[in-house]
Amino acid sequence: DWTAEHIVDELVEDVRKQVGEGRVLLAISGGVDSSTLGLLLARAIGDRLTAVFIDHGLLRLGEREQVEAALKPLGVHLVTVDAREEFLGALAGVSDPEQKRKIIGREFIRAFEREARTYGPFDFLAQGTLYPDVIESAGGLASDKSGAANIKSHHNVGGLPDDLAFKLVEPFRTLFKDEVRQIARLLGLPDHIRMRHPFPGPGLAIRILGDITPEKLDILQRVDDIFISGLREFGLYDGCSQALAVLTPIRSVGVMGDERTYSYTTALRAVATDDFMTAEWARLPYDFLATMSNRIVNQVHEINRVVYDITGKPPATIEWE
Ligand code: XMP
Repeated sequence: DWTAEHIVDELVEDVRKQVGEGRVLLAISGGVDSSTLGLLLARAIGDRLTAVFIDHGLLRLGEREQVEAALKPLGVHLVTVDAREEFLGALAGVSDPEQKRKIIGREFIRAFEREARTYGPFDFLAQGTLYPDVIESAGGLASDKSGAANIKSHHNVGGLPDDLAFKLVEPFRTLFKDEVRQIARLLGLPDHIRMRHPFPGPGLAIRILGDITPEKLDILQRVDDIFISGLREFGLYDGCSQALAVLTPIRSVGVMGDERTYSYTTALRAVATDDFMTAEWARLPYDFLATMSNRIVNQVHEINRVVYDITGKPPATIEWE
């Protein structure tokens, strides 16, 4: 549509003016804001953009490949960093939710700095800050839980060291999320990323209650994939604001064939909300839930019990940690 095209042209012009011949670094989270920003910057300045995607091992099944497949063919100079061992090593044995967030934030900055030095020097750091984020920080209400592709809020960290204190490029500062989604369509971002639910910076780490092991991650990735693919398959995805699976530390007795099992419980959660400050649990159809439960216990043998979270926010948060 004409308005979005017009906005894209203007943003491209503005970026070119601000950046000149400079080089720009961008952290890609895999969400709509940073992905769209990557596409916009690639259009504006081509290879003078370096987009860094850090795989911390806490992503969804196939997420890294999806982001690469979406951005690389459209000309984004994307560097994917496999930092799984570093992150999982630093998280080993840690159960406290805030401690997990701190460690992930710290490791993220460490990995990002390393890439900045490897591919640099850079003059600018691009961030997908949206208008509501600007308002929020101006009002002193800056939350560390914003879904924005803002390094600080997304990864719950304070920032980069002084010698990496770039000038900021924030082309979306005046835009709302739905405007970014329109721009994303024009720039060719595939719908599965464009319309994606928010996904927290610490990823699956805060959906595994207790300590994180490669085995638990593998279990949760498979459960999550069944649930999210199922929502898409049954046409229920867009009706939810966010959906997730939690791997609980609860193990209980079950039966399979002639044998008794003692395996994990997974909790599914889906919510409807306008602002993520309050939320209602999504009234997903029983038949759908039954199908999900069957698929999960049949395909993921480490799970023998599936529960659905029917708590609103407040008092429950959307995430379990
Ligand atoms: P809660 O669980 O507080 O979540 O109801 C509200 C929204 O924030 C997201 N969330 C996070 N996002 N880093 C993030 O980038 C975090 O540490 C974090 N914790 C929660 C959550 O997914 C939901 O969209």
